[in-house]
Amino acid sequence: MKRPYIERLRSGVKGFDRLIAGGVPRGFFVAVVGEPGTGKTVFSIHFAWQGVLEGDKVVYVTTEESRESIIRQAAMFQMDFAGAVDRGKMIIIDALMRGRGDEWSLQELDIDELVQKVLEAKKRLGYGRARLIIDSMSAFWLDKPAMARKYSYMVKRILYKWDFTVYMVSQYAITTTQAFGWGVEHVADGIVRFRRYIRRGELKRYVLVEKMRQTPHSLVMHEIDIRDGEGMVVVRPAKARKEDTVLPREVTRRIIRGRIEEELASPEGELESGDIGDDF
Ligand SMILES: Nc1ncnc2c1ncn2[C@@H]1O[C@H](COP(=O)(O)OP(=O)(O)OP(=O)(O)O)[C@@H](O)[C@H]1O
Ligand SMILES: [Mg+2]
Repeated sequence: MKRPYIERLRSGVKGFDRLIAGGVPRGFFVAVVGEPGTGKTVFSIHFAWQGVLEGDKVVYVTTEESRESIIRQAAMFQMDFAGAVDRGKMIIIDALMRGRGDEWSLQELDIDELVQKVLEAKKRLGYGRARLIIDSMSAFWLDKPAMARKYSYMVKRILYKWDFTVYMVSQYAITTTQAFGWGVEHVADGIVRFRRYIRRGELKRYVLVEKMRQTPHSLVMHEIDIRDGEGMVVVRPAKARKEDTVLPREVTRRIIRGRIEEELASPEGELESGDIGDDF
């Protein structure tokens, strides 16, 4: 049987599209998830700009940063968001600086108002293929996490008819690496997961495509770089190394020796089994 043709939207991130067979299928809802500072916003900015370059209508909803902050961040990577807005190619809906009363600011962090504004923006930009970024969805259910899935579903159901391909950014807490409320991931057609690790005193960032329906995608975590003047680049596949997760042997030995000496020095000292853990 002939393989069905799937139109795919390019991400604008060098090296990323080959991980997902050329791009995100048109009309998909992709959850972009990860801890703070891992690159979700930068990744979203690239998607928006690629849309401008290809003549798509672009709507960017920002809840974590002001419109000006997003414009400045994009400018660091040579992307002229202000110009695109002026030329009617892009609308940035600001949900952070509420109450400013400008046409493209949200008054409340309310999902109905969000959907209405997005549809208004789409009408203004005109007919045709569109990209929507909601950075982030988490903001809409901060005080009611149980609603996350319902909200995500609602947004998907309504916006689906409007020819949007969507990035829904969702934040993961550092401590638990759990999303603030479960929702986006199950409803989404794709999940792009960003991570970070400190390796030898240096922050390293990675991306993993955890899900992409109708796509033979890479299952390998890749290291990414965010470069001044250039933005995000997929650098190389991450090699899982033992030393990333396990302490060096000599360090382990010293810890155990230290613990035993400590216990022996205390009068009622007895080392409980399980104290040291399986890693050793
Ligand atoms: N001009 C630049 N040059 C190099 N690195 C940059 C530049 N601008 C931003 N970065 C890097 O990108 C990081 C921010 O990434 P980003 O805003 O995409 O994170 P995020 O995942 O959206 O985080 P949050 O959940 O807090 O919104 C910065 O911490 C910095 O390391
Ligand atoms: Mg962000």
